[in-house]
Amino acid sequence: TGLFTYDPGFTSTAACDSAITYIDGDKGELLYRGYPIDQLADKSSYIEVCYLLLYGELPSKAELKDFENRVTRHTMVHEQMHYFYRGFRRDAHPMAIVTGVVGAMAAFYHDSTDISDPEQREIASIRMIAKLPTIAAMAYKYSVGQPFVYPRNDLDYASNFLHMCFAVPAEEYKVDPVVARAMDRIFTLHADHEQNASTSTVRLSGSSDANPFACIAAGVACLWGPAHGGANEAALNMLRQIGTVDRIPEFIERAKDKNDPFRLMGFGHRVYKNYDPRAAVMQESAREVLDLLGVENNPTLQVAQELEKIALEDPYFVERKLYPNVDFYSGIILDAIGFPTSMFTAIFALSRTVGWIAQWKEMIGDPQKKIGRPRQLYNGATMRDYVDISAR
Ligand code: CMC
Repeated sequence: TGLFTYDPGFTSTAACDSAITYIDGDKGELLYRGYPIDQLADKSSYIEVCYLLLYGELPSKAELKDFENRVTRHTMVHEQMHYFYRGFRRDAHPMAIVTGVVGAMAAFYHDSTDISDPEQREIASIRMIAKLPTIAAMAYKYSVGQPFVYPRNDLDYASNFLHMCFAVPAEEYKVDPVVARAMDRIFTLHADHEQNASTSTVRLSGSSDANPFACIAAGVACLWGPAHGGANEAALNMLRQIGTVDRIPEFIERAKDKNDPFRLMGFGHRVYKNYDPRAAVMQESAREVLDLLGVENNPTLQVAQELEKIALEDPYFVERKLYPNVDFYSGIILDAIGFPTSMFTAIFALSRTVGWIAQWKEMIGDPQKKIGRPRQLYNGATMRDYVDISAR
């Protein structure tokens, strides 16, 4: 055939120019707009990181205040949306709900359909960043049968999310600043990751000039898979299944066995062939949170740390350059905070929304923009004549 480059999984195809996120997988380096992820996780805040990803530079104090005000003005979802939630079964997976609700927003904001207008693009972007925590928190509240909690705009982004998830009307609820900080860091570490599967999905959907809410819903759907965002849920389930340190070798052997579909979840990455820099921050954060919440000798953390140690010395993992990724430790923190595993990927989705939007905006504004249209190598039947059903 020779006409097209055959590249399943796009392992060597660059589909766009981008100035947002840089990854050096061999060095284990991740930069948002040039700033190293560990510095941002340490010194910045998620809302500031959102500004940085969207507009390219760190904000001044006044710019940050203004941005925060613009976001908080849009945190509520339309009251009508409550009916949409009530249509779901109580045991629906939060990611199924979030996918549906984000897509349904296209029906509430008709103005956003005109993406040729930069003002409309901006307002749709702010709406999504503001509403995703509310949407995810409502999915959680719905699943536990508690009343929805309205956003509190006097709280910061992470504290407001925790409040919407864990406050109940009958009781006083105060967000622990340490927990809020850990939550904020999780958001920051997941905010963008260049052209991964869900981001590429958002770009591909957006390349047809589709409604931005529909494009982000497509990203949420893609993120759900266990090979992508669903890995955080799968990783914690795996650590729990292993249970105790003495059972680790059995699972290591299973992961190495090519006849066994089992993989070490939270291990390996398409781009990182060195330690995922996000995993390093996450591991430190996991220790801090467990210490501060007084969870001593957490068996899951013990299994995680020991599993990591054993795998990093095992030739199978060494040769294939398989290191823990961001999802290996995030579940331990989310579990300690009180989230059920089914919420983990929804939290990833709300964190990644800003990245999807920044990438979508970059694409829409790119003079090189074209509708995405991969080609194929056809390997089906050659031309043949139709056979009447009576003769088959
Ligand atoms: N456990 C055991 N073996 C593995 C693992 C693992 N977690 N990951 C890769 N391998 C092996 C794989 O079997 C293959 O071996 P061989 O060369 O002998 O056939 C080799 O390593 C290369 O793997 P691959 O599947 O070709 O690599 P990929 O770049 O296509 O896949 C991955 C990357 C992330 C899908 C994969 O490593 C994986 O399934 N990991 C577990 C799921 C996970 O943690 N995903 C989260 C990714 S980070 C967050 C995100 O992006 O959403």
